[in-house]
Amino acid sequence: MSKDLKGKKVVVLGGSSGIGLEVSRQAAELGAEVVVASSSAEKVRKAVAELGGKTTGTTLDLKDETAIAAFFEKLGAFDHLVYTAADSLHVSDLASTDLKAARNAFELRFWSLLAAVKYATPHLREGGSITMTTGIYGRRPVKGIPIVASIAAMMEGLTRSLALDLAPLRVNCVSPGVVRTGLWNTMSEKDRDGFFEATAKQVPAGRIGEAEDVAQTYLYLMMQANSTGQTVVVDGGASLV
Ligand SMILES: NC(=O)c1ccc[n+]([C@@H]2O[C@H](COP(=O)([O-])OP(=O)(O)OC[C@H]3O[C@@H](n4cnc5c(N)ncnc54)[C@H](OP(=O)(O)O)[C@@H]3O)[C@@H](O)[C@H]2O)c1
Repeated sequence: MSKDLKGKKVVVLGGSSGIGLEVSRQAAELGAEVVVASSSAEKVRKAVAELGGKTTGTTLDLKDETAIAAFFEKLGAFDHLVYTAADSLHVSDLASTDLKAARNAFELRFWSLLAAVKYATPHLREGGSITMTTGIYGRRPVKGIPIVASIAAMMEGLTRSLALDLAPLRVNCVSPGVVRTGLWNTMSEKDRDGFFEATAKQVPAGRIGEAEDVAQTYLYLMMQANSTGQTVVVDGGASLV
């Protein structure tokens, strides 16, 4: 396993906040030249200012296939792709699911990811990797989230399939439990704090995830050379109880 990322170029799609921002920070600390991309110019600007050093940023709406292709064409050769881009979870039981909205929930988490991998792959250098993101609801759903659970389970199959198709590039996925990030900002502060506290009480580790500890898993999957097709769960034991 390499000990640092000196001389490596790392692209983090969704790197302007939450888990992606922490992956960007840790990769930069290990010497990588990091490129952060997401749809909000202001968030990208803030992330680049915060990370400093050799980090650069690009405003990129991953729902725009032409823009994705142009982004990678302009970028040229690089070493590691990380995909953490996501919108809010589509939480609804089947009876109350609006099927058009449910289809839309696959846009950023499946179709945009597929496009990013397709257009990135020709530019990934030998020894490179792709690390994607899912969540534990794919393996251990709770009631009322069939769309969320479907997307999460799909990601694990896609990871295994792409690991075969794109070999010898390595393709892996990280599956976090609940992590304290802006993804939960659609809840009121009071509800969110209550949810985090209740979750922490339920899980064996007695805490929810922080973006910092989940980000370490992406760094591990980037830097070791022999793991591919794997989904690594980082959930404080939530999927055991
Ligand atoms: N937080 C958790 O508890 C948790 C648990 C399990 C799994 N996960 C998964 O982990 C991943 C990262 O989540 P997070 O918690 O870090 O969320 P987050 O803080 O909300 O970050 C999401 C990122 O996606 C970007 N994004 C959204 N729409 C985009 C678009 N159209 N084009 C480009 N970028 C876009 C956002 O930036 P812009 O707004 O600038 O576009 C942001 O940088 C997601 O797949 C999430 O489902 C999270």
